[in-house]
Amino acid sequence: MTQPAKIIIDTDPGQDDAVAILLALASPELEVVGITAVAGNVPLALTEKNALKICELAGRRDIKVFSGAIRPLMRALVTAEEVHGKTGLNGPDLPEPTMTLQDEYAVDFIVRTLMNEAPGTVTLCPLGPLTNIALALIREPKIAERIKQIVLMGGGYFEQGNVTPSAEFNIYVDPHAADIVFRSGVPIVMMPLDVTHKALTTRARVEGIRAINTPVGKATAELLDFFERYDERKYGTDGGPLHDPCVIAYLLKPGLFSGRDCNVAIETASELTMGATVVDWWGVTGRPANAKVMRDIDADGFFALLTERL
Ligand code: RIB
Ligand code: CA
Repeated sequence: MTQPAKIIIDTDPGQDDAVAILLALASPELEVVGITAVAGNVPLALTEKNALKICELAGRRDIKVFSGAIRPLMRALVTAEEVHGKTGLNGPDLPEPTMTLQDEYAVDFIVRTLMNEAPGTVTLCPLGPLTNIALALIREPKIAERIKQIVLMGGGYFEQGNVTPSAEFNIYVDPHAADIVFRSGVPIVMMPLDVTHKALTTRARVEGIRAINTPVGKATAELLDFFERYDERKYGTDGGPLHDPCVIAYLLKPGLFSGRDCNVAIETASELTMGATVVDWWGVTGRPANAKVMRDIDADGFFALLTERL
């Protein structure tokens, strides 16, 4: 077997982040060299604790978890307790973590790892606002040519936004960080709402996960039971969009997804459309492509992979 692919998961858990982390930890093709927490769905004090809780749920006390940015680069933090609950991991009753955070600051860990590992061998998997990633690129610009790729959940084009009519939450919270990342020249694979809204946690899919009948299967079903209710009410669908695991599933089975190379620019000036990802899907601007933008997913294949790994 080839060497596992080295990844850093940057995250704001968040039930869907939790499922993404569980999927990664259950996949021998991946080596999670570290998990870096960022403020997003809930404040940093909770996202860092939630990351520890998820590692313990997975029985992976060996995983290194780092604390990162407490707020966006320029704007005040906007959180999403209405979606994720007060703790950010509402649903299962997970015990307080006994694992502790690493002393090193997340941004320093990202830079150190990229400078120490061979160029083109580490993939960054941001699942929340891009603050830590932007800070790392500013702290050490040399990492840009050493990052293998950034596979991120964020943005929306045909689906537009979820936190405002124009903007998806991760980009909206820190549009300036997103602007830095999309201008960095690093190869980007973007999982926008256009694809994640097609990955719905239908009742049958959630019951398939509960039927795994293990602590992880039970906790994951309880995470999804809670997480989906907000979007089911909002969109009137059976199930909610399972955003963040799309990033990990892409690394495991890229053929589950399809999209195209596009130019993506971030709105950072207009309050009305702040954080919009302006995707030149039809190639009308002449601006060079800077991201592979996904639009379609084999949802049954995605949930089969997720359930089998969990
Ligand atoms: O808009 C969805 C994204 O925002 C997901 O990453 C979810 O966890 C939240 O961070
Ligand atoms: Ca997230």
